[in-house]
Amino acid sequence: MTDWSLAEQRLLVRLLGGAVSADASSLKAASRLAVAGLVEVSEQSTTRATLTDEGAEAAEKGLPERRAIELIQQAGGGGLPMGDMMGQLGAAGKVAVGWLKKKGWASIEQGRLVAQGEAPPGPDETLLTQLAADPDAPWDEDAGAPLAQRGLVHVEDFVQRSIALTEAGKTAAQSIDAAILDQAQEINQVTPAVLAAWSDWTPEQRASAQLRGFGLDADVAPRHPGKAHPLTHIIQEIRDIFVSLGFQEIMGDYVESAFWNMDALFIPQDHPARDMQDTFYLDAPATLDVADADLERGKEIHETGGETGSTGWGPGFDPAVSQMALLRTHTTNTTVRFLAENPKQACKVFGIGKVFRKETMDATHLPEFYQIEGIVTEPGANFNMLVGLCKEFFTRMGFPEVRFRPAYFPYTEPSMEIDVLYNGKWMELGGCGVFRPEVTEPLDVPDPVLAWGLGLERLAMMRLGLKDIRDLYVSDIKWLQETPL
Ligand code: PHE
Repeated sequence: MTDWSLAEQRLLVRLLGGAVSADASSLKAASRLAVAGLVEVSEQSTTRATLTDEGAEAAEKGLPERRAIELIQQAGGGGLPMGDMMGQLGAAGKVAVGWLKKKGWASIEQGRLVAQGEAPPGPDETLLTQLAADPDAPWDEDAGAPLAQRGLVHVEDFVQRSIALTEAGKTAAQSIDAAILDQAQEINQVTPAVLAAWSDWTPEQRASAQLRGFGLDADVAPRHPGKAHPLTHIIQEIRDIFVSLGFQEIMGDYVESAFWNMDALFIPQDHPARDMQDTFYLDAPATLDVADADLERGKEIHETGGETGSTGWGPGFDPAVSQMALLRTHTTNTTVRFLAENPKQACKVFGIGKVFRKETMDATHLPEFYQIEGIVTEPGANFNMLVGLCKEFFTRMGFPEVRFRPAYFPYTEPSMEIDVLYNGKWMELGGCGVFRPEVTEPLDVPDPVLAWGLGLERLAMMRLGLKDIRDLYVSDIKWLQETPL
């Protein structure tokens, strides 16, 4: 018996006294017992009639026609003037006239109501009286239909269930020690009220309290409520990580000038990545304004290296190239713009945004994808901090094995590519480095700037176990429904 809850055991014992009609709580207790063949739940459809307010009044005072016929009978053989009856019964009088005729109790002769015969109580009146005395009185369709039509009763069909023991149930019920059941306490749900009461209980009460077990292997229908797209969810997770590390979020526009996307990052104007093959240039707007002061400083750094000790890329910097409008090819434009606007202060900022490249789509490349970008600048910031930060980020994302490989970006020195170990393979997830003086000096940034840019979709693929990056953007409803967040 131990695997039956107290409620179930109590029901079994109660049923030894005979079948019971089911209510919500006994049905709940009966459901597992029924599966085990200890009880049987049978269904009967029944009709329940309840008196309306008008019906209750009629039950108390009599139906209008009954009240009328009594007045008519009292008036004797000469009949009762119609006006007298109306005067005494008011609104009910009008109703009474129709039913007096219908039931053949009275006729109207020259404005007088004359009784015809005895007018014994009909089945409708009997039923009305019964229902008034006992709401569960059995419903009789023939007698009751006129009452329902007159709006005196409200009729409802419902299913009544009753629970009875089977033979096996009888044996089981007899083996239960009912005395123990009476003392035991069962907790069906751990509610705040239960928790509050718990401290007042005696040790004995606590020991005898039984927690109702949960059937963790019970089958339930799958539910698919609305939820965020897995990628949106991962973006939120990344945001939470950086915010919890003390970073502020920044954003930027998709449409950018070549100056802020490239020149400000000391990418030479003849760099192959600027080519129409790699970058989406725009027709409208075809150009974007860049401040003269920025262009002048950019020209100087690019051509001569300015005060940095660098030799620059040599002559030929063209301000017209700087002003070409494009779709940003990386989110490093937002961090370098942030530095230009906030040059002389320590900061930790990050951004998650879309970038655009003329890439051929395949299992690991998209022409439009997200980057996770960030910078840290403060006196004494150094490369080890950058490595530690990237490791911390990927560890929090669930990928603690991180590898750094020397790489080259025109705007950082040293520069590193970041790989993350996934399923025994190193996945390339982004780049990082310390901004070169050719980037920071024209912006008047005094301290080292640690910078990184990571691919979001590849990280998402690893998190979601996808083999093809394109699957992230296919609206496969089944995948969307079933992907756990
Ligand atoms: N912008 C680089 C990319 O798109 C990533 C990067 C950002 C590298 C910042 C170094 C510093 O791949």
